[in-house]
Amino acid sequence: MDWLLLYHLFITVLISVPYSLAEAPQSLGCQTTCGDVNIPYPFGIGQGCALSKEFELNCTRDKNGTYKAFTSESSDVEVVNISLFQGQARVKNWISWQCYNSTANEISDYSWGELNLTTTPFRFSSTQNKFTAIGAQTLAYFYLQNGKPLWYRTGCVSVCLSMQGLVNGSCSGIGCCQTAIPLGMNYYTVRFDGNFNSSDVSSFSRCSYAVLIDANSFNFSTTYITTTNFWYGNNGQVPVVVDWSIGNETCQAAQRNKTSYACVSSNSSCIDSTNGPGYFCNCDKGYEGNPYLPGGCKDIDECLNKSTCSGICTNTPGSFICSCPRGKHQVGNNTGDCYNNSRIPLWVKMLIGICVCIVVVLILSSFIYLVHERRKIATMKEKYFREYGGQLLYQEMKSKQGFTFTIFKEEELKEATNNFDAKNILGEGGNGAVYKGTLINNEDVAIKRCKTFDERQKKEFGKEILILSQINHKNIVRILGCCLEVEIPILVYEFIPKGTLFDLIHSYHTSHFSLSSRLRIAQEAAEALAYLHSWASPPIVHRDVKSSNILLDENFMAKVSDFGASVLAPSDQDQFATLVQGTRGYLDPEYMQTGQLTVKSDVYSFGVVLIELLTRKKAFYWDGAEERSLSSAFLSAMKVNKLREVLDDQILNEESMNLISGVAELARECLNMEGEKRPEMREVAETLDRLRKTMKHPWVHEIPEEIESLICEPSTNKELEITSYRSLEEKAMLTIESGR
Ligand SMILES: *[C@@H]1O[C@H](CO)[C@@H](O)[C@H](O)[C@H]1NC(C)=O
Ligand SMILES: *[C@@H]1O[C@H](CO)[C@@H](O)[C@H](O)[C@H]1NC(C)=O
Ligand SMILES: *[C@@H]1O[C@H](CO)[C@@H](O)[C@H](O)[C@H]1NC(C)=O
Ligand SMILES: *[C@@H]1O[C@H](CO)[C@@H](O)[C@H](O)[C@H]1NC(C)=O
Ligand SMILES: *[C@@H]1O[C@H](CO)[C@@H](O)[C@H](O)[C@H]1NC(C)=O
Ligand SMILES: *[C@@H]1O[C@H](CO)[C@@H](O)[C@H](O)[C@H]1NC(C)=O
Ligand SMILES: *[C@@H]1O[C@H](CO)[C@@H](O)[C@H](O)[C@H]1NC(C)=O
Ligand SMILES: *[C@@H]1O[C@H](CO)[C@@H](O)[C@H](O)[C@H]1NC(C)=O
Ligand SMILES: *[C@@H]1O[C@H](CO)[C@@H](O)[C@H](O)[C@H]1NC(C)=O
Ligand SMILES: *[C@@H]1O[C@H](CO)[C@@H](O)[C@H](O)[C@H]1NC(C)=O
Ligand SMILES: *[C@@H]1O[C@H](CO)[C@@H](O)[C@H](O)[C@H]1NC(C)=O
Ligand SMILES: *[C@@H]1O[C@H](CO)[C@@H](O)[C@H](O)[C@H]1NC(C)=O
Repeated sequence: MDWLLLYHLFITVLISVPYSLAEAPQSLGCQTTCGDVNIPYPFGIGQGCALSKEFELNCTRDKNGTYKAFTSESSDVEVVNISLFQGQARVKNWISWQCYNSTANEISDYSWGELNLTTTPFRFSSTQNKFTAIGAQTLAYFYLQNGKPLWYRTGCVSVCLSMQGLVNGSCSGIGCCQTAIPLGMNYYTVRFDGNFNSSDVSSFSRCSYAVLIDANSFNFSTTYITTTNFWYGNNGQVPVVVDWSIGNETCQAAQRNKTSYACVSSNSSCIDSTNGPGYFCNCDKGYEGNPYLPGGCKDIDECLNKSTCSGICTNTPGSFICSCPRGKHQVGNNTGDCYNNSRIPLWVKMLIGICVCIVVVLILSSFIYLVHERRKIATMKEKYFREYGGQLLYQEMKSKQGFTFTIFKEEELKEATNNFDAKNILGEGGNGAVYKGTLINNEDVAIKRCKTFDERQKKEFGKEILILSQINHKNIVRILGCCLEVEIPILVYEFIPKGTLFDLIHSYHTSHFSLSSRLRIAQEAAEALAYLHSWASPPIVHRDVKSSNILLDENFMAKVSDFGASVLAPSDQDQFATLVQGTRGYLDPEYMQTGQLTVKSDVYSFGVVLIELLTRKKAFYWDGAEERSLSSAFLSAMKVNKLREVLDDQILNEESMNLISGVAELARECLNMEGEKRPEMREVAETLDRLRKTMKHPWVHEIPEEIESLICEPSTNKELEITSYRSLEEKAMLTIESGR
């Protein structure tokens, strides 16, 4: 109570001078500060300087001579700060307290403070203030009023039985408690509960405090419990935030009366108070100053603040324009974040442009080149196709039903042979190779691909192929098709798995090869040739009969091959008179001399094959020192009756000499130097048939096991395989060489 009395004794000195001209209160020398405190209109010191009576303040000097501002009407409320912006102010507020005297066992000192703002435009801010009670055994009640008879009561309890558990900065019920207040209040007072009187805790805490305080300016310290620091440290007063407003009307209502409307400055606006009735004014965005004075809101020169715009700043009323220097552009929204219009130098741009151009040109040209190449290949294919008589073939194939001949595409054959992989080569010669291929339908085929081709045959090729493809005999390798869209036609034959007769005769793996098998194979080959000779007119001459052109299928049945290389015996004899073909050792000497090809040339060559079968010697063989022709060696042996010496030992042991002599005699006839005197191929076949029938054992068309088991492995001697697939030219070359 002493403190309050003391305060009431303060001498207040009237400083302000009253003015009567309410129209221009601040301009007429009204005091705008009191001590450290700014007093902006609508507040004013002295009559006429404020908007209304409630905004009048008294500026008085205290004992120490410091000027302080107080609300004038009946109050002792010290105003320490006024803010126009939020419609807020800070005022000083007395701390309520009580202390327990343990000796007297009573509450000896206390002060129940109050704050009465009913005659002021102030109301306690409910957001920034907190009722705060401090004490070891404290129950404080807060009584609130908003100018009406109705009372609001709240409170909080703060208890602690020892100093333990107290934390600096934490106001949570232990030694310190806080509670919020409702909106719109302008009066409060405090009462302490008598039953919470620190009698139990007086050993360390005697006093309790309670006050409405700006929460931001309060920081609990444990020393507030044990000492009187809270009171003395604040000189008994703490700041409380108050909201103030003008009148008791809303903005909308207030604006109706222009004479009483407070927001007089242009570029200002009215804001309804959230804390109780009334409104306050603010300058618009971009303006600052006092909205309660005419022209009070002044444009803010944003350009003075260098951080708002880093470019070229131009201030405008209420705003500013931030622009960029020439050659730069702005990235943000009026932020002045200027960047060079192009951070990439011109030469880099040009370089990139050129590069892009080059790439585009390259891609385009390579595309054009590809298209061109494709077209070129296509036309080339077409050209070849035409040249080789493909059209004729097609027409023929269309007209004939059940004609199983295929014209293959190059891609199909590439796929079948894994792009002519060397692993698939069955036989290879100087002028080409035969590949094993597997068609899409899983059929195995032999694909013959030559390196060169006789130009003279070009025109006839399609026709020839057409004829050859129609030959259908069990002992002749069938032509399945061809590919004409390549430079040199590729021929596709049926695949014969067991290799050549040449391999069978001359391979070391074949240890036993019975005479009956030999005769059967010979007869089958003879049948095939007889068929060829009689099948067409003019007759088809094989031209290259030899053991390596007689293939063996899985049943070791003979299959005459490579007739694809043969030419129809020409009707006009002169036309081919100069072309001599065949393989050394098998070649008809008469044909070599005259160059005239007849079916009897094949008979001669077949005679050589017959001797080969009887002797198991090659057409040309090494006889110790020199290379000998088998045919001449055989014929001379027959002449001197020493046939036994040249014959294969195996058949000598096996069979009757009569039979062998019969075969030898047949061979001799075939080898007659005069073609006229040689038998026809049909006769040869018949003779062989007859001879076979004279054999003791009846013919069983099963493969003698000894052969099969012994030759199932392919010959390792490459050289042997090659001979069967020589090209026409190569053969011609060989023939010419041997003829010299
Ligand atoms: C006056 O000044 C003294 C020392 O400067 C200070 O201790 C005292 O609290 C002041 N009195 C008031 C009422 O401000
Ligand atoms: C405040 O000043 C007014 C005159 O402006 C005067 O009437 C009033 O008594 C003063 N109040 C106090 C508490 O000094
Ligand atoms: C008054 O308030 C303003 C802004 O709210 C602040 O900058 C200033 O320090 C305050 N003055 C006092 C004495 O509290
Ligand atoms: C407590 O009360 C006794 C007796 O009334 C008095 O003498 C003493 O000064 C008081 N102590 C305080 C600190 O007020
Ligand atoms: C202090 O409080 C206790 C109960 O906590 C009560 O019995 C006692 O009378 C009170 N003393 C005074 C002086 O109020
Ligand atoms: C507050 O002050 C006014 C004016 O001095 C007075 O009329 C009113 O009764 C006071 N309020 C309370 C609760 O004391
Ligand atoms: C709280 O701070 C004060 C100084 O401000 C110090 O004396 C006291 O020991 C602190 N209390 C705790 C519990 O740390
Ligand atoms: C309160 O005071 C303590 C020390 O006493 C300090 O660590 C803390 O930061 C303060 N808190 C505030 C909000 O000032
Ligand atoms: C508003 O204030 C005026 C005087 O300034 C008073 O006559 C009126 O009754 C008040 N209205 C309300 C609703 O408080
Ligand atoms: C407007 O306000 C003025 C001053 O407060 C008052 O004299 C006048 O009667 C009011 N006019 C109306 C229409 O309310
Ligand atoms: C500010 O006030 C002036 C004068 O009334 C007006 O011309 C201007 O447009 C206002 N500016 C804004 C941003 O409202
Ligand atoms: C940029 O400013 C204009 C005018 O101030 C505003 O309408 C627009 O929404 C702003 N854009 C962004 C992205 O901030």
